[in-house]
Amino acid sequence: MPNWCQSKVLARREWAPGLFTVTIDAAGVQPFECGQFLHLGLQVNGELVNRPYSVASPHGPQVEFFVVRVDDGKLTPSLGNLIEGDELLVSDRGAGSFTLNRSPSSRDIWLIGTGTGLAPFIAMVRDAEIWNRYERVVIVHGTRFAADLGYRDELERLAKEKPGRFVYIPAITREELPGVLKGRLNQLLVNGQLEQAAQMTITPSDSTVMICGNPDMLDAVEQALLERNLSRHRSKTPGQIVVERYW
Ligand SMILES: Cc1cc2nc3c(=O)[nH]c(=O)nc-3n(C[C@H](O)[C@H](O)[C@H](O)COP(=O)(O)OP(=O)(O)OC[C@H]3O[C@@H](n4cnc5c(N)ncnc54)[C@H](O)[C@@H]3O)c2cc1C
Ligand SMILES: NC(=O)c1ccc[n+]([C@@H]2O[C@H](COP(=O)([O-])OP(=O)(O)OC[C@H]3O[C@@H](n4cnc5c(N)ncnc54)[C@H](OP(=O)(O)O)[C@@H]3O)[C@@H](O)[C@H]2O)c1
Repeated sequence: MPNWCQSKVLARREWAPGLFTVTIDAAGVQPFECGQFLHLGLQVNGELVNRPYSVASPHGPQVEFFVVRVDDGKLTPSLGNLIEGDELLVSDRGAGSFTLNRSPSSRDIWLIGTGTGLAPFIAMVRDAEIWNRYERVVIVHGTRFAADLGYRDELERLAKEKPGRFVYIPAITREELPGVLKGRLNQLLVNGQLEQAAQMTITPSDSTVMICGNPDMLDAVEQALLERNLSRHRSKTPGQIVVERYW
């Protein structure tokens, strides 16, 4: 059981029905690394229910989370109903090894996520470390619909601010939108469209690839990368692929 601190909702933004960012007071949370998660807890029907959530912002007096409502889920329907001023519990320290510190160094880093799997990458690109360690950063975000592309404005702005250093590639699967790739991320990797959009190539010598989101996507993208001679990064057997599994 985590050590809990009392927290309060400071702001809430709905990207699409059921897909939201919640910003909370983090005064009691100890410094954590970008890519780590905290637990959020709420009383639901008289029972404390808690789940881990990647923090979508670097450590600070307030932190944010990018969350999707799982309609028959135990916590997210209540989490999704919180409004400014409502109270909730947050764990007092970050956990998890999906961090740059635990990832290999290389020239390029690809941050590949579906749905709310974008969250840890938002924290990373808002922080200095990634820009100090990698020459070029690519975020690939895959969702069902364009409305689910949370943080799109911020990422497009960042791409304009950092030409040659940052590329943002949104991709959707269930509608057509001019200028946005259509297809699952593993397919877009295999058919070369992701690399074409980034104007960069994924290679074992130049690339680190972090993947987060739908577990079936993780497996499919990792398989495509293994076929390109990349391998899972482990402390004893260094490789290029680092994975975070939400469920
Ligand atoms: C390390 C870690 C970090 C996580 N970070 C996030 C995050 O940043 N944002 C977030 O929304 N969730 C995140 N999750 C998932 C989160 O912990 C909960 O599982 C999720 O919010 C569902 O909780 P629930 O009680 O409503 O549903 P439950 O009753 O626990 O139902 C779980 C089921 O919901 C589905 N599910 C769970 N998470 C998602 C998701 N993100 N997208 C689509 N379907 C899902 C799966 O089918 C899963 O089996 C993370 C999980 C882990 C392990
Ligand atoms: N606006 C929202 O996002 C929203 C709001 C409320 C509730 N929900 C619910 O939340 C749950 C999760 O929805 P989500 O859209 O966030 O996540 P998701 O189902 O994981 O879909 C996100 C992206 O991952 C892709 N994907 C799924 N399986 C894959 C695989 N095997 N390989 C590669 N890519 C794969 C999807 O493509 P496909 O389209 O081809 O599956 C989609 O582009 C659903 O139950 C949904 O109904 C979502």
